[in-house]
Amino acid sequence: MTAPHDVCAYRQSRPWWRDAVVYQVYPRSFADLNGDGIGDLPGIIDRLDYLVDLGIDAVWISPFYASPLNDGGYDVSDYRAVDDRLGTVTDMDVLIEQAHARGLRIIMDIVPNHTSSEHAWFADILANGVDSPAWSRYVIRPGKGANHEEPPTNWRSVFHGPAWSRLVLADGTVTDYWYLHLFDSTQPDVDWTNPQVREEFLDILRFWFDKGVDGFRIDVAHGLAKDPDFPDMDYESIPASEILGLAPGAPYWDQDQVHEIYREWRKVANTYSPPRIFCGETWAPTAERLALYQRPDELHTSFNFDYLAAGWDAEKMRASIDATVENHLKVGAPPTWVLSNHDVIRHATRFGPTPNGSPVTGPTEVDAERGLQRARAASVFMFGLPGSAYIYQGEELGLPEVFDLPDHTRQDPVWHRSKDKDTGRDGCRVPIPWSGEAPSYGFGPGEKSWLPQPTQWAELSVTQQRGDEDSTWEMYRRVLQCRRNEPALGDGPMEWYDDAPTGVLALRRFTAEDDQPSVIVAINMLNEPVHLPSGWGTEVLTASESDVVVVSDEDSSHLVLGAETAVWLRG
Ligand code: NOJ
Ligand code: CA
Repeated sequence: MTAPHDVCAYRQSRPWWRDAVVYQVYPRSFADLNGDGIGDLPGIIDRLDYLVDLGIDAVWISPFYASPLNDGGYDVSDYRAVDDRLGTVTDMDVLIEQAHARGLRIIMDIVPNHTSSEHAWFADILANGVDSPAWSRYVIRPGKGANHEEPPTNWRSVFHGPAWSRLVLADGTVTDYWYLHLFDSTQPDVDWTNPQVREEFLDILRFWFDKGVDGFRIDVAHGLAKDPDFPDMDYESIPASEILGLAPGAPYWDQDQVHEIYREWRKVANTYSPPRIFCGETWAPTAERLALYQRPDELHTSFNFDYLAAGWDAEKMRASIDATVENHLKVGAPPTWVLSNHDVIRHATRFGPTPNGSPVTGPTEVDAERGLQRARAASVFMFGLPGSAYIYQGEELGLPEVFDLPDHTRQDPVWHRSKDKDTGRDGCRVPIPWSGEAPSYGFGPGEKSWLPQPTQWAELSVTQQRGDEDSTWEMYRRVLQCRRNEPALGDGPMEWYDDAPTGVLALRRFTAEDDQPSVIVAINMLNEPVHLPSGWGTEVLTASESDVVVVSDEDSSHLVLGAETAVWLRG
């Protein structure tokens, strides 16, 4: 594979994933080459040069397997096939080859916690009941009560409602059994205590690794093992806001037995040259528990959602960085940072101040301009943190969350399962505006897009932003270019500046040997400019806005950093 041409030599001496900036493609919403309104693999191939120009190192593509698309493809019916609407396996071969020719790595998304209910295994159970050879490959238990009319436990689905559904066979027979689905009822959980399940997933990994895929993001990486006693969950003891999410202490999250699975997976990844890599979608209750997944014989990296959840809050951000860096150091792994993805409110909206100061957790009024300003600052600061970082498609355009989708267009199962109360995640999945004045804004050749795009998005399109120095796109490109050229950025040590003015977080990045130029990464979280210490110098490498100014008097010079702005300085 061609190495990205402009990465500094120092950086090239260590494994790519320790520093990588990974761009997440949500394929249905990225680019639609055949104009049916659904993004596809040929669309991604068509836009690879765009990704090269942006300056990323790897692309993580959310699932494109054969799927009924009840949960946007996180409901897989065949792990060795591509969904007809998204392309073919041959398209994927071409995509891998074309990406590699450009020096980009490809990360796929494996969904091992559950299959679709249309997967051949589950279909066999529906056809043959308890006699099916697939019966023990799913988490199926007899119901409680005289007539088995109650679910085996009180567990709740992440998508609202109970996590168990009664098993009704294809011929209408109502069985005494219930199957577990931590997500939608069309996503039955598989039973990872079954060796056939383990073998099958190792084989799926090999199938795609053999094709040249560089790694996998692992869906619900913390959920595969369940407490073998299947106890009820004490939901009373946790805040209501956490019940559907991490639910600390839940007998279905972060169980110790899950680590054995990743030890097996790592062995398979290590048989390839170069070794393939894993990034876990791992929700763990503490930074210490999270780091366990990154032990040298398990996953290479895991997303740090604690940092994403810290919001626009200097104290929480700093605490999260400290805990993450400290615990990852213990296991010798680089941290991984992310601010947006296809499951959360886009950070340009999430960081927007609201009239009453409450956090943005659903549709609400926000100051969009300041939200974007903060998002740009937060991203620049994040790219300066030690380790690797992820970008979610469209954040480089500063796209906001779309709160006002017409209800009849919503597709997220969360919307339906909450009985139309929780608007869910469609608002961050609206197809990308590439060019032009009218829908689909270059997403496809015509006007179709599976979710409608706001008319204001014409101004946010890629062609509108490229070449405009003040645009979010050009800012991302500059910052990523700078990051690649600075040996001190990416993986490596950091230390805080304790002389940072109030409201400013600042850290020094340097190389382990301290023999390369260092970088100061600083963010002003106040809504007013701040004067930086003169000892920090005035050499600006890059910034989230252009209003970083040098003030000189007779004795010294220092920088004034604008409100809600981040900067990188020569240290
Ligand atoms: C996490 C994925 O990111 C999300 O989109 C999906 O709905 C759930 N896992 C279930 O697979
Ligand atoms: Ca299409």
